[in-house]
Amino acid sequence: MSISLKNVSYSYKGKFQTVKAVNGVSYDFEAGKCYAIIGKSGSGKTTLLSLMAGLDLPTEGEILVNGKPTAEWNRNQMRRDEVSVIYQNYNLFPLLTVQENIRYPLDLKGMPRKEAVALAKEVRGRVELPENYDKRLPAHLSGGEQQRVAIARTLAQGCKIILADEPTGNLDTATTMNVVEILRSLAHNDGCTVIIVTHDPAVAELSDVVLQMRDGKWV
Ligand SMILES: Nc1ncnc2c1ncn2[C@@H]1O[C@H](COP(=O)(O)OP(=O)(O)OP(=O)(O)O)[C@@H](O)[C@H]1O
Ligand SMILES: [Mg+2]
Repeated sequence: MSISLKNVSYSYKGKFQTVKAVNGVSYDFEAGKCYAIIGKSGSGKTTLLSLMAGLDLPTEGEILVNGKPTAEWNRNQMRRDEVSVIYQNYNLFPLLTVQENIRYPLDLKGMPRKEAVALAKEVRGRVELPENYDKRLPAHLSGGEQQRVAIARTLAQGCKIILADEPTGNLDTATTMNVVEILRSLAHNDGCTVIIVTHDPAVAELSDVVLQMRDGKWV
């Protein structure tokens, strides 16, 4: 399980101008490590993460996921089985309960109901949410709790590459540390590749490797 950037560039082509948001970056991310990507607003972090998530293809260079370029993957399948993304605003389904949110990727995969419920309960426990949360709706949870549900959903999905774009952007310091601890443990105890885009120096400090972007390049 690995993700490698090979001289990756991405340009947004507008009617009047082209913005080269990512400009020739290379890097081999290793499993079992937690990475932070930092850099000023507009430096290209979200664009790079979206390319790694397979939401779009590089305009130059390539990204290898488990050795295969994203251009050759069935990218829906890649996003379902290999790479999952955690967002600042949690992206939970508001009308589904906590358990239904966590189970969602399992239901998509066609996992039998009983097995899916058991796995959903297990991962909900791993992010330290009690059993009576299963039937609650996201809107009735705190930001940190919602982010933990999002992480539980990622855990249920079983992807080994976890990308997070400002996952603690809306959280206070204590809750941030809790969420980062969970992400770190996914790298260190489960062998996942965890890549966190962050503005928060405290989050970067807890990562194994810090990469800084400026104008679409590594500094
Ligand atoms: N959809 C788009 N169309 C055109 N240009 C875009 C688009 N999205 C981003 N850009 C430009 O690409 C560059 C990189 O943007 P990106 O969102 O990747 O930055 P970022 O590092 O994530 O910033 P932030 O820290 O504010 O989230 C910026 O100059 C931005 O204006
Ligand atoms: Mg961004």
